[in-house]
Amino acid sequence: MKLPFSESYKIKMVEPLYRSTYREREQWIRDARYNLFNLRSNQVFIDLLTDSGTGAMSDRQWAALMLGDESYAGSSSYYKLKDAIREITGFPYFLPTHQGRAAENVLFSAMIKEGDMVPGNSHFDTTKGHIEYRRAKAIDCTIDEAFDTTLNHPFKGNVDLKKLEKVLKENARDKIPMIIVTITCNSSGGQPVSMKNLRDVRKMADKYEIPVMFDSARFAENAYFIKTREKGFADISIREIVLQMFKNADVMTMSSKKDAIVNMGGFIAMNNKELFDRASIFNILFEGFISYGGMSGRDMNALAQGLYEGTEFDYLETRINQVAYLGKRLKDHGVPVQYPFGGHAIFVDAKRFLPQIPREEFIAQTLAIELYLEGGVRGVEIGTLLADRDPETGENRYPELEMLRLTIPRRVYTRDHMDYVAAALNNVFDRRQDIHKGLKIVKEAPILRHFTVELERD
Ligand code: F0G
Repeated sequence: MKLPFSESYKIKMVEPLYRSTYREREQWIRDARYNLFNLRSNQVFIDLLTDSGTGAMSDRQWAALMLGDESYAGSSSYYKLKDAIREITGFPYFLPTHQGRAAENVLFSAMIKEGDMVPGNSHFDTTKGHIEYRRAKAIDCTIDEAFDTTLNHPFKGNVDLKKLEKVLKENARDKIPMIIVTITCNSSGGQPVSMKNLRDVRKMADKYEIPVMFDSARFAENAYFIKTREKGFADISIREIVLQMFKNADVMTMSSKKDAIVNMGGFIAMNNKELFDRASIFNILFEGFISYGGMSGRDMNALAQGLYEGTEFDYLETRINQVAYLGKRLKDHGVPVQYPFGGHAIFVDAKRFLPQIPREEFIAQTLAIELYLEGGVRGVEIGTLLADRDPETGENRYPELEMLRLTIPRRVYTRDHMDYVAAALNNVFDRRQDIHKGLKIVKEAPILRHFTVELERD
C-alpha cells in the first residue's frame, strides 16, 4: 500500500481553545459592531483571520532566540540575518524593519513622490495605502484570468505584460519609480507568479529602465508553485528557484511574519548600494539604527532560522497540502472558491455564494459574519470594505472579486480543524438561501477602514 501523505513536523507545545455557543457568538459579534477585528481572540474557536505573525515557531527558532545579541550596533544577530538573506535571496544589502508595511514606508520614502504611477499585480492594501498616502497611484496590471474564480490557470498572480507596457509607454520614465510584483499575489487569492512572467517583467523593465521591486511576503510558497507547476523546474530545489526568482528584482520588501514563520519582523533587501544609503536615512528615522531597525537581536536570530526552514521543500509541501485539503473539502461540497487553490488561504467567492446580497451591503463581510456565527471560525473580508473609497471621488470602490479569505496559519492547526472549518462553511452554504440581510456602515476611517469600521444589521 502506498503510504499516505503526512505532516513533516510534530507538536511540542499546545494552546487550549474555547468552543463557544451560537448564543455567545451572537452577542459578541454584535458588541464587536460586526467587525471581526474587534473580537477578542478567546471569542474565536478557529482563527483564520490571517497567516501573518500567527505561525508556530520551531524548537530551533526558540533555541535561536536564546542566542540573541542585543547590542545596539553591529550585533551578531544582525550579521546572522544578513548572511541568511544573502544566501537565500542573493541580495547583498539589507535593512531590518519591524514588519512589512514598515519596509514599504522606508523604501517608498526613498523612491516614490507625489504624482508617480506604480504599476503592479494587485498591490496589497498596505502597499497601496503607502503609495496613495504619498499622492501617487497604484495601477493594477494583473492578468484578467485572476478575476474569474472558476478558471483553472496555474499562475493567476501573473502580470499582464500588455497592461504593464501601456503604463510604461504612456508615462514619463521619471513618473514611474518602480514596478511592484507581489509573490505570491495575496489580493488575487494567494496566487503565484511564474518564473517566465518574472523574467518577462524584468525584460520589459530593462527596456524602459524602471527598477523592479518584489513584495516578497510569500516568496517561498511562490517558489513551491513554480517547482510543482511550471515546466522545467520539477528537479530544481526550492532554494535554487528562490535565487532565480530574485535575480529578476532590484529590491524586495519582506513581511517576515509570513514565509519566514516569525511573529513579528520585516526587511528590505537590495542590490544597489546607493539605494541602500538613501533608504538607510529613513530606516534610522522611522525604524531604528540600520543594524536592528525595529527588531530585537533575538528576533533577528529567529528570523534567520525561519528563512531557512520556510524554504525547505517538506515544510512547504505540508503547508500547501493543508490549504488545498480545506479547499477540496469546500469545492467538493459546491462552495465557490478561487481555483486553483492559493498558497496561504482559501478564497471563497462571496458574490457567487450570496448572489442575493447587493454589493452595497458588503457581500463578503456578510458571509464572514455568518461563518463566525455558525462555528466560531474567523475569516477575513477581501472585498469592498478592504478596497476603501476612491481618494478622489470619495465613492466606494467595488473590486471585481468579493472574497472571504480563510487564511491558514503556518504549523498551527490540524487536519481535524480543517474538517471543522469545512463543515461550518458547508453548513452556511446549505442555508445560503435564508440569508437576506447584508450590512451597513455606521462609522469608518478615511484609509484602511476595514480594521476599525463599525457596521450594523437591520
Ligand atoms: N505585502 C503583502 C503581500 C502582504 O500580504 C502583507 C500583509 C504586507 C505586504 C504587509 O506586511 O503586515 O508585515 O506589515 N498581509 C497580512 C495579511 C496583514 O493578512 O494578508 P505586514
